[in-house]
Amino acid sequence: MPPGFFRRLALVLGLGMAGFVLWSSWGFWRARPTKPVTVANEPAETISVNPGYVGPQTCAECHQKRVDECLGSPHFRTCRVPQPGEMPDSFTPESGNYLSRSAGVQFEMRQSGNRFIQQTRYNTPQGPRQSEASIDLVLGAGKADDVYLSWRGDGALFELPVAWLWPTRQWASSHFCTSFGTGDFSREMTARCMECHTTWMEHAPGTNLFRREGALLGVTCERCHGPGEEHVEYHRLHPEVKPASKILNPITLDRERLIEVCTQCHSNAVTHRQLPWSYRPGNPLEESYRTHEIAHPENDHVADQGTHLRASRCFQNDSSMTCITCHDPHQRETSVPASAACAKCHQAEDCGQVATLPEPVRGQCVECHMPSRLKINIKFEVEGDNFIPPIRRSQHRIGIDEIARDEVLWKWYRQQTDEQSQAETARLSERLIGHWIAQAEARAEEKRFMAAIAAVREALAIGESPKAREMLKFLVEAQEILYAGWAEALNQIQQNKPSEARQTIEKLLSIDPTNADYHAKLGTMLVIDGKPELAIPHLVRVVELDPNNASGLGILGRIAFRNKKYDAAIEQWEQAAQIEPRLPQLQYDIGMALLELKRPAEAAARLEIAAEMDSARPDILIALAEALASTGNWDRAIATATRAGSLTEGGDPEQSQRVSDWVKSLDERAQKARQPGKSTP
Ligand code: HEC
Ligand code: HEC
Ligand code: HEC
Ligand code: HEC
Ligand code: HEC
Ligand code: HEC
Ligand code: HEC
Repeated sequence: MPPGFFRRLALVLGLGMAGFVLWSSWGFWRARPTKPVTVANEPAETISVNPGYVGPQTCAECHQKRVDECLGSPHFRTCRVPQPGEMPDSFTPESGNYLSRSAGVQFEMRQSGNRFIQQTRYNTPQGPRQSEASIDLVLGAGKADDVYLSWRGDGALFELPVAWLWPTRQWASSHFCTSFGTGDFSREMTARCMECHTTWMEHAPGTNLFRREGALLGVTCERCHGPGEEHVEYHRLHPEVKPASKILNPITLDRERLIEVCTQCHSNAVTHRQLPWSYRPGNPLEESYRTHEIAHPENDHVADQGTHLRASRCFQNDSSMTCITCHDPHQRETSVPASAACAKCHQAEDCGQVATLPEPVRGQCVECHMPSRLKINIKFEVEGDNFIPPIRRSQHRIGIDEIARDEVLWKWYRQQTDEQSQAETARLSERLIGHWIAQAEARAEEKRFMAAIAAVREALAIGESPKAREMLKFLVEAQEILYAGWAEALNQIQQNKPSEARQTIEKLLSIDPTNADYHAKLGTMLVIDGKPELAIPHLVRVVELDPNNASGLGILGRIAFRNKKYDAAIEQWEQAAQIEPRLPQLQYDIGMALLELKRPAEAAARLEIAAEMDSARPDILIALAEALASTGNWDRAIATATRAGSLTEGGDPEQSQRVSDWVKSLDERAQKARQPGKSTP
């Protein structure tokens, strides 16, 4: 390797060495470096090319009945363009207002012709501000919560903060952070979100850049059957042929692959291993995603039916059971009538309880064995309350649940008028409320405040209880304080007030020492403050507390790197890369450590991966070009350098000049190296 490699790199990038070391640790691990090399020309190409999706209208040509069945299904409707008849009737001056619990932030929802609009009003130190966004897409089939999306500029998609809750017919907002955001507090819509709610979209480099044209909204046929182009072409050409050709019928898959057709969306398989929209039915899901291990159900990304189902004896003792044993994905009502689903394998007599139950309750197998619970992984703020789960979810670990039985019986006795039933109702209600309050206390003890809130709400769903009310108030306030404190800490970091931020996070940790994000951020700040020895214990805690959070490992690697312990750094980063398989920064960092270890060929391979993951980062390309040059691969080095040059061209003039000078000098080095008699470095 040429001497002064890093100095040269830092010079090319226009950063002091300090800046170079800082940018991966500061500036929030996942985000781009705080002061990124300016990219003048975003590459225009999209990163997902249509592999042959044709859309359900094309299937209708030969499968009209099937398509008609599916059209009204929650799958088809889960991402759609707003239509006047299908929107809540509250886009009016009387009911279109929502006042958030964040001081001074309010929203107005209104309709103008066929357009639906969300207006945001908020106060800033410079006075009141307002902004407006049109609702261009709706996420949600109109049964639970509908979330609204808005296109901005050239293909940037945002999630608006205000949602509609159908069960209680009210406006609500997802938690938002007033100090961030773009005037309307919207969030960038990620490809992973869109992947589970659409069949296919063209995705451009950049978190939330998509192409509107050609998007296949909703979960339609080809999402479960694979791209249909070849199938359609074949059968159009051979109308006489009956056995189907070139299309997947999932029923032919083995059990795991068949379940994965559903769990590509109905699970915690949320971290990409491959590009978005790469998974195809029939392939192992883990090739496309890393499934998160989740300790508690309130942290599930979506209701994770697959994991829970697998834990039940029904599933373990009968190899035929899959999701489609009980659900027909083509129907408007996707569930097979509940007791019929159990009747496929059980008779009422199998149940030790049934004979003792009042006659009308006996058929409620699902209510007792798959009870629906307030799963608070999704929660909203509404006027006057917070952390409201919009909907109940069915427990897919089929099993014996005494509390569910008591609930079913309580519901039954409550409807009876005789004295004995009334007494039974009172007894059961007291028992159930007591159970849920005890649950809430135990969860709060474990610092699972959100789960505790859900438990208290279960108690209150049975009946009024002053104790439960009081607990709810306390828990909601505690959780709000934690959220507000976190927002404040992030704000303080953004305003470059590290010592204030540190104090804030230390306070948060004294309330909840189990939060991995707090430890990660505090550790990062201590590193920046030059106190790595204080940071290390916090950074080590991160992955212990949350096995899906790689940021602690990332920064531990950086500390090792700074201490010139390159092997140790690589070890930490490799572990982090297990958790975040598609994070270009990690591949880049590993590449840099390999360069330090004078292993340029391996470094080039890593940097190549980093460049493939993010083709728009000149710093990666520059490092790659240098690594390739070190291996004597001058042709590729120059091609890569030229590409880095074209990315910066026309941006910050000083930087673009530096990069272009460097490209020239690389060229000269190449010519020298190629002179006969000279060996490559
Ligand atoms: C030009 C006619 C035509 C079009 C268009 C068409 N199919 Fe088919 N499809 C057939 C025929 C013919 C069969 C085989 C006979 C049958 O099952 O009806 C078939 C069968 C299937 C099967 C069952 C496969 C099996 O092995 O059992 C699936 C699944 C399927 N099609 C899905 C689709 C999807 C999804 C689309 C739209 C992307 C589509 N088809 C479009 C003609 C068509
Ligand atoms: C891993 C796949 C997946 C991802 C990623 C995903 N969703 Fe969903 N979404 C689902 C599934 C599955 C449901 C059905 C309900 C459930 O199981 O939680 C759903 C339901 C919904 C609903 C309907 C209401 C409801 O609660 O049933 C909305 C709205 C929604 N998601 C919005 C989003 C937003 C916004 C994002 C990104 C922040 C997102 N989803 C990311 C799979 C996903
Ligand atoms: C959510 C996943 C999913 C969606 C969406 C879906 N299917 Fe299916 N489809 C399946 C599964 C699973 C099977 C196999 C089990 C079965 O037969 O129900 C299947 C079976 C089929 C079959 C073969 C069985 C039969 O009835 O002949 C055809 C044809 C078919 N689907 C067509 C379609 C068409 C057309 C659409 C869109 C209008 C569609 N499917 C949407 C999952 C899906
Ligand atoms: C591409 C993602 C995706 C795939 C694949 C998928 N689902 Fe879904 N599913 C969703 C989303 C999103 C919703 C939520 C719809 C809503 O309410 O907005 C949903 C809703 C459901 C529901 C609830 C419907 C209702 O009545 O509210 C059931 C049941 C379901 N899916 C079962 C299945 C089964 C079984 C499979 C596999 C054969 C499957 N899904 C495949 C994304 C998917
Ligand atoms: C033994 C039957 C059974 C099996 C197997 C089963 N489900 Fe369900 N599922 C139900 C019942 C019953 C409900 C609740 C009734 C309803 O919502 O219609 C339900 C509800 C759902 C819902 C709606 C949201 C909720 O949780 O209430 C989704 C989504 C869902 N199931 C997905 C799946 C997926 C994915 C699989 C496979 C991993 C699966 N189910 C396997 C019986 C089953
Ligand atoms: C595909 C077949 C199948 C279906 C469908 C099915 N089960 Fe089972 N179930 C089994 C088998 C097999 C066992 C284990 C029996 C044994 O070990 O003796 C079992 C066990 C159980 C148990 C005992 C669980 C425990 O932890 O001890 C309950 C309760 C149960 N099933 C209820 C239901 C209910 C309710 C439904 C409908 C929602 C259902 N099952 C659907 C096959 C099935
Ligand atoms: C009111 C609640 C309730 C209803 C309704 C109910 N069960 Fe049960 N079931 C229980 C309880 C509690 C147990 C465990 C205690 C026992 O066996 O007495 C049980 C046990 C079982 C078992 C396990 C038996 C064993 O010894 O492993 C099966 C299987 C089962 N039920 C199936 C069903 C089916 C199928 C239905 C619907 C026809 C049903 N249950 C309806 C509450 C209920």
